Amino acid sequence: MDSLRRLHMQFPPRTRTPGEIARHASQHALLNGIIKEVAIPHDLLRYHWPANLRGLPTSLQGLPLQVAWSSSLTLFVLVDRHSAMGCHHLMSPLYLRRGLDEAWRLADTDELVTALLEDGPWSEASPNPEFYDQVLQSQAVMASIIEDARRRPHDPLEDYAASEQGLWFGHPNHPTPKARQWPQGLNGQGRDCSPEFGQRSRLHQFSFPAQGLRIACNGLEPGEVLSQAADQSAEPEAGRVVLAMHPVQAELFLQVPDVAVRIHDGSIRDLGRSGPRALPTASMRTWHAPEHPWFIKGSLNVRITNCVRKNAWYELESTLVIDRIMDRLIDSEDPALETLELAREPATLHWAPQDGDDDQRRWFREQTGVILRENFCRRFGAERCLLAATVFARDTELEPMAPSLVARAIPPASAAGSGAPVGDVPEARVVDWYKAYVGALVEPVLALYFRHGIVVEPHLQNCVLIHDQGWPRRVLLRDFEGVKLT
Ligand SMILES: Nc1ncnc2c1ncn2[C@@H]1O[C@H](COP(=O)(O)OP(=O)(O)OP(=O)(O)O)[C@@H](O)[C@H]1O
Ligand SMILES: [Mg+2]
Repeated sequence: MDSLRRLHMQFPPRTRTPGEIARHASQHALLNGIIKEVAIPHDLLRYHWPANLRGLPTSLQGLPLQVAWSSSLTLFVLVDRHSAMGCHHLMSPLYLRRGLDEAWRLADTDELVTALLEDGPWSEASPNPEFYDQVLQSQAVMASIIEDARRRPHDPLEDYAASEQGLWFGHPNHPTPKARQWPQGLNGQGRDCSPEFGQRSRLHQFSFPAQGLRIACNGLEPGEVLSQAADQSAEPEAGRVVLAMHPVQAELFLQVPDVAVRIHDGSIRDLGRSGPRALPTASMRTWHAPEHPWFIKGSLNVRITNCVRKNAWYELESTLVIDRIMDRLIDSEDPALETLELAREPATLHWAPQDGDDDQRRWFREQTGVILRENFCRRFGAERCLLAATVFARDTELEPMAPSLVARAIPPASAAGSGAPVGDVPEARVVDWYKAYVGALVEPVLALYFRHGIVVEPHLQNCVLIHDQGWPRRVLLRDFEGVKLT
């Protein structure tokens, strides 16, 4: 532990610009991805120093790791351990050496990506031509996030909203964690709707003829669902209903000729940014108004990280089925599920034109479809809920944030937290904290599968840590759209 701490203090240094921080975070995420997805399966990892050390950081400590990408490209980084699964803590910047280079050098991301794509160990697959732009865009977004976060310093682990909006670098094993393919000509709305910049926005609203509205719900009144999903007072005329949309989704919706025709003939009315004031969560398309009983999860036909975030018709349909099953499970009192909490999703609604054919109706359904998700902060308290992805993420200086939470955590049957500086928390306390977190998560997730045949998607962005003064008590799972039944 001591030696690890010492190593950690050498890298990263604390004086870097947002651009440098973004470069490191971006390259490390890319490296994590290629180690797991390409280098391990193709047996390209070598845990030793190369014969030629010129340009390498030989004074830093750590295990040398080379990625022998091709006969003309090798990458080098220092890591904290030998890991068969590719789970390393990276202790140095990334270096590369190509063909006839005499020395190793720090990699610029554009050159790195170009070299990886040119020289990849693929025989049949051809690289995705969009990949280069997505990596660079993701890195540029990270740099602007860090610049903004340094201007208004705050603690992402302070409460739930801060944790949803403080995931500075996104998925640590994805090559394009902050790539966002906003449509051209958005006038800054992409930034307004990005969680990391800490803004609240009003959702866009449209009114539609009530005949095309469909509401599906478990144990709620349809009228109640409608009034919770959007501000119905924005449309005074009887026989019409209001639905809310992500502002960028609304821009895209308005550009479609079929929508323009319906707006022109008055069947759809554009009510502008008249909807609830809410903050975008880490997934970008789900909105959180702290005082509101529901999260609003709408469609966003924009590629975020790895896929276009549309509420597919089959997801809207399955949500209610899964919600009913989850509701029964909550009542089942299975002891293996004791530490599990679930965010209910008991309502979906959408509008589709009655005069449309099947394709048109499905298209409108996927544009306007909304899922209501329980605002679990009202049950547990916003100060006790933290997005797990942020708990295990890094701050704007690339330092892990979890140690500060562990340092102030109060274990059961103890009157106080350690109160020790972050670096001095006893190792046994750290291990106990982590055991409490893993224990709360893993047993229920395995029991859901082995006892109940339910495969959840418990990645870090779908898990919320519920803690008592920093100590893990329960884990809440959310996002039923990826749940599978066996
Ligand atoms: N550690 C992580 N694990 C998984 N996803 C992560 C992580 N960190 C950040 N993310 C990001 O979170 C998002 C997860 O997508 P996912 O499909 O679970 O959510 P969603 O369905 O779009 O919305 P919601 O979670 O609000 O229901 C992706 O954009 C992904 O890049
Ligand atoms: Mg999710």
